[in-house]
Amino acid sequence: MTKYPKTKKYDPKWITENWMGPHPLWLLEELCENLDLRPGMKVLDMGCGKGLSSVFLAKEYGVTVFANDLWISASDNMRRFEEAGVADLVFPIHAEAHSLPYADDFFDAAVSIDSYHYYGADEYYFPCIYSKLVKPGGQFGIVCPGYKKEFENGHPDGILSFLSEQRAKYNDAGWGADMFTFHGKDWWRRLWGKTGIVEITACYDIENVRGIWEPYAKFESEQHKDFTDADFLKADTDGDIAFTVMAAVKNGGIK
Ligand SMILES: C[S@@+](CC[C@H](N)C(=O)[O-])C[C@H]1O[C@@H](n2cnc3c(N)ncnc32)[C@H](O)[C@@H]1O
Repeated sequence: MTKYPKTKKYDPKWITENWMGPHPLWLLEELCENLDLRPGMKVLDMGCGKGLSSVFLAKEYGVTVFANDLWISASDNMRRFEEAGVADLVFPIHAEAHSLPYADDFFDAAVSIDSYHYYGADEYYFPCIYSKLVKPGGQFGIVCPGYKKEFENGHPDGILSFLSEQRAKYNDAGWGADMFTFHGKDWWRRLWGKTGIVEITACYDIENVRGIWEPYAKFESEQHKDFTDADFLKADTDGDIAFTVMAAVKNGGIK
């Protein structure tokens, strides 16, 4: 995608071998337009998955990255960071979002690509846990999948019936439950903004959601999974799906 020139430098095969959702490097490159990352900064890459975003942060900005994930082991990620030649700048950490091993005020910035909604979509997480990790004046940035606005039943009608059908088909009561963390940008802005801990510096929906999501959806379909993002995108008949970008600066820094 011409909008993301930095990502062009990275091997498409390496990306598709390691992405765990819609193109993480496009999402990250978009987010970084709203951040000020400088060499030597310590950056938390929260929910880094297989670490594509961590490698990108180290290579593009010369920052030191703590590549934190739950589903992917630190050993697997370490191997990937060695292969990518960034093992001196990127440290793999296996930790759950509610019991992180970092000191308060440790990071200059915390970013999260397609992950924060899994653990951060409640009133408690940001003020009581996540915000503490970054020093005053430090930066936060997330990109989350969601919707362009809020819906009474959590989803637009087309997606709601699709999710119900899928749940019945796979006989799984919990199926799709994490997608109740899909929200609109105003919802996210309020979640962080009302804490008074940060100043929101950006909060918007990325244009061309489908252009970003479809390559991953196509890839997944080719893997013949039961449920694919392609089915989900198809159920979005009214074009309600969004990627929200939100960036913020922690209050109390040097003005
Ligand atoms: C959809 S994947 C995205 C991974 C990666 N950012 C990417 O785009 O390829 C979501 C990631 O969030 C992480 N995650 C989900 N819940 C978590 C939790 N409670 N604590 C830490 N990480 C979590 C998972 O381990 C997973 O790698």
